[in-house]
Amino acid sequence: MLSEIRRTHLRKVISKDTIFRTRGGIFVAVDDGELVGTVRNFTRKIYCCSCETRTCGVGEVSTHENFRRRGIAKTLLEKSCSYMSENGFALSVLHTGTARKLYEGLGWTPVTRLFLTRRIPFDLYSTGDLAAQVEVRPCHSEIFEENYLRKLMTVYNRTSIKYNGPIVRDHEEYWKNWVDNESGKISWHDEKRTPRKFSVHIRGNLAGFVVLQFGSESIRVREWSLLADQVSKEFDMVDFVLSQICKFYGEREQNFTFPAPISDIKEHDVHSTDNTTMYKVICPSLLPKNTLSVSDLICKNGLNDQMMNYHVFWDTDRF
Ligand SMILES: CC(C)(COP(=O)(O)OP(=O)(O)OC[C@H]1O[C@@H](n2cnc3c(N)ncnc32)[C@H](O)[C@@H]1OP(=O)(O)O)[C@@H](O)C(=O)NCCC(=O)NCCS
Repeated sequence: MLSEIRRTHLRKVISKDTIFRTRGGIFVAVDDGELVGTVRNFTRKIYCCSCETRTCGVGEVSTHENFRRRGIAKTLLEKSCSYMSENGFALSVLHTGTARKLYEGLGWTPVTRLFLTRRIPFDLYSTGDLAAQVEVRPCHSEIFEENYLRKLMTVYNRTSIKYNGPIVRDHEEYWKNWVDNESGKISWHDEKRTPRKFSVHIRGNLAGFVVLQFGSESIRVREWSLLADQVSKEFDMVDFVLSQICKFYGEREQNFTFPAPISDIKEHDVHSTDNTTMYKVICPSLLPKNTLSVSDLICKNGLNDQMMNYHVFWDTDRF
């Protein structure tokens, strides 16, 4: 009892001098003229049950280390939730590593994403005529220029609408600024880990876009779009495109890790899960299906009831 009283007594609280301010979805806490806490809201739409769903991303959640555990982040996030309801968002999404408890306490729920790691050889389908039809090329910012961009947006949106969670990228500016930068235009601190992008061409026409990040154990697919209706279903296009990329780097085979929903699961695939993406329903009546739990809403396929996890969030779109 004594220790309980002592703990309560010693508990740090937000100082009366701390002021909370907001501007255009950015919330800050200021103490004695010093910035001590921030939360930023990002206006987005995500694909969910094949519908565009108005979603608020939460990022830049940070409290000055001398001001932690006084409820500053909690207060900023509560203000941010009021902002979301007042501004007609259906859902909120965020990504976290260590601060999960903070968000759970405020109603966000982690929703599992499934990944597969597959060993892919460089010479897959090399004897058929697939290699003559499909070409994979490393690319740079030219892919975001006018003549390609419209096609790229179609390829992306027609691929991503099949899953639940991907950001709807309907503004050219988002592609030219955010996607380009996040896909390797800006070098990372560790140069080797800077994302690399590839375009896929079928009979000379742009049909796909892949962004990869090289790691020590495996190459991670940060995003994947492909329209390959004209190619026979007997070929697994994920395997083929990734095997062509192996060839580029002179490797006989490579481990690739990618979101499970982009390919049929194979016998030797290694499965892994990620629970760092969290959602919160802000306005149930604005959801495509307003009776489901967040997990059901995001994981199931809106088009049929297969028990497959359809939750995808391309790394490129993290905020
Ligand atoms: C995470 C962070 C923003 C929390 O800020 P804060 O102002 O200290 O958080 P609050 O005081 O509002 O915490 C509210 C509740 O969240 C949980 N929480 C906050 N920090 C936590 C921690 N380090 N470990 C476990 N739970 C934590 C607790 O339940 C806490 O309630 P309690 O203090 O009554 O136990 C801050 O530690 C920080 O800036 N960390 C570095 C950046 C970062 O990790 N940001 C999050 C990115 S997703």
